[in-house]
Amino acid sequence: MQEPRAHWSSSVGLVFAAAGSAIGLGNLWKFPFITFENDGGAFVLVYLLCIAAVGLPIMMAELLIGRRTQKSVVGALREAVGPAWGVVGAWGVLCGFILLSYYTVIAGWSLYYFARTAQWTLTGFPAGLSTGDVFGAQVSSSGLQIALSLAFSTATVAVVYFGVQRGIERIARLFLPILFAILVLMLVSALGMSGSGEALAFIFRPNFAELEPESVLEALGHSFFTLSLGMGAMVTYGSYIAGNQSIVKASAVIVVLDTVIALFATVIMFSVIFSVSGMREQVGASTVGMLFISLPELFYTQVPFGRILGPLFYVLVALAALTSTISLLEVVASYLIDEHDVDRHKATILCGAAIFVFTIFAAISFSGAPFFSTLALFEGKTGWFETADHFVSNWMLPTGGLAITLAAGWFMTREATRGELVDGNEPGWFRYGVWRLFIRWVAPAAVGAIVVAVIFFGRDFS
Ligand code: PHE
Repeated sequence: MQEPRAHWSSSVGLVFAAAGSAIGLGNLWKFPFITFENDGGAFVLVYLLCIAAVGLPIMMAELLIGRRTQKSVVGALREAVGPAWGVVGAWGVLCGFILLSYYTVIAGWSLYYFARTAQWTLTGFPAGLSTGDVFGAQVSSSGLQIALSLAFSTATVAVVYFGVQRGIERIARLFLPILFAILVLMLVSALGMSGSGEALAFIFRPNFAELEPESVLEALGHSFFTLSLGMGAMVTYGSYIAGNQSIVKASAVIVVLDTVIALFATVIMFSVIFSVSGMREQVGASTVGMLFISLPELFYTQVPFGRILGPLFYVLVALAALTSTISLLEVVASYLIDEHDVDRHKATILCGAAIFVFTIFAAISFSGAPFFSTLALFEGKTGWFETADHFVSNWMLPTGGLAITLAAGWFMTREATRGELVDGNEPGWFRYGVWRLFIRWVAPAAVGAIVVAVIFFGRDFS
């Protein structure tokens, strides 16, 4: 017997949960890094454009499909668009499965770094310690990697186990304000550092001569990842909206929050890094370098109040990651709950355990263990971790996003989408016609360009 569908307690609950899903490692780990790689300014501007012109309309599309059908992604697409569209939903569930399987590994690192930095706060930063060696030692210990990601996966299961209001919403309402407070503290401290002027100029002064065409597609691809679009997370969260809460307002707030947090994080990290001569060159080499190699040491040697902010920073990373992993697990678990009548408790544990099997592969990707670390389905990608991240970011999210845009813009009737977006609760400034223009033409053209670049030109954006 299926229970009556659970709902967010209010539109504020929806905003917290959805913003929690959006704000994650994408904001704290990926965005600063790709901004760095793409020379800042112009890239950031293009990214903001992508968020507004493509991300926001698709966010609204996903939420409205969910609210309209009151079903998680497979059932929702089937009902809103047509029976064949269940396949797109299943693609989303698979994406949630794969994404969660490696996301928890990096999330687990935040736990390790919290412990290490807290230790340095108490004992002082050991003179002569190389944080590069610390990083190398922790990733190459398979046992440690598995233990950390197990801890994180268990926390994720524990939240989703308690359901929409008592689990997901409650945690998001608790964590997001803490996360924001820590970020503001860090921002204040970072802005006082000598590199902050250079950092702000790097991030906000566009230099279009430096912008490569590929950066545009990278910015666009990242807007899917960072807003949790293209795989049904927002459809699923939309399905817990009761009746007449505003989709337009909620989408706008979620998108703005996600963007502000990404920019804050970037300003913080660059202010710290640019304050140390030579650090800029050193950081360039790797995605993980900034967050897990350069920053841990700089907290202790450079940042005002860094002894306190260091461990707090990794708490922030962990909180942000957890509100994202719960949305990923919810996509997978709600499929079993809605479509196969499995009870929530059983579904969460089952899905959590199945996904964890793949997490083990991701966790030991770095340890050089034979087979798993050499598993290379794509050229140049080794191990389950890189393979999965490549597949999700380049193939799954863009194709899923394209399908959802087409569904909302072309396959659902005008009456259906209009009925969801035009009612008494939507703000007066909202123009349905503008949304429709974007969802029918702008978004599909833009996302289509990524898909074409990946499939036909072998581009790699991850
Ligand atoms: N938006 C999350 C982040 O930025 C990642 C995510 C993608 C979460 C898709 C859920 C679904 O880290």
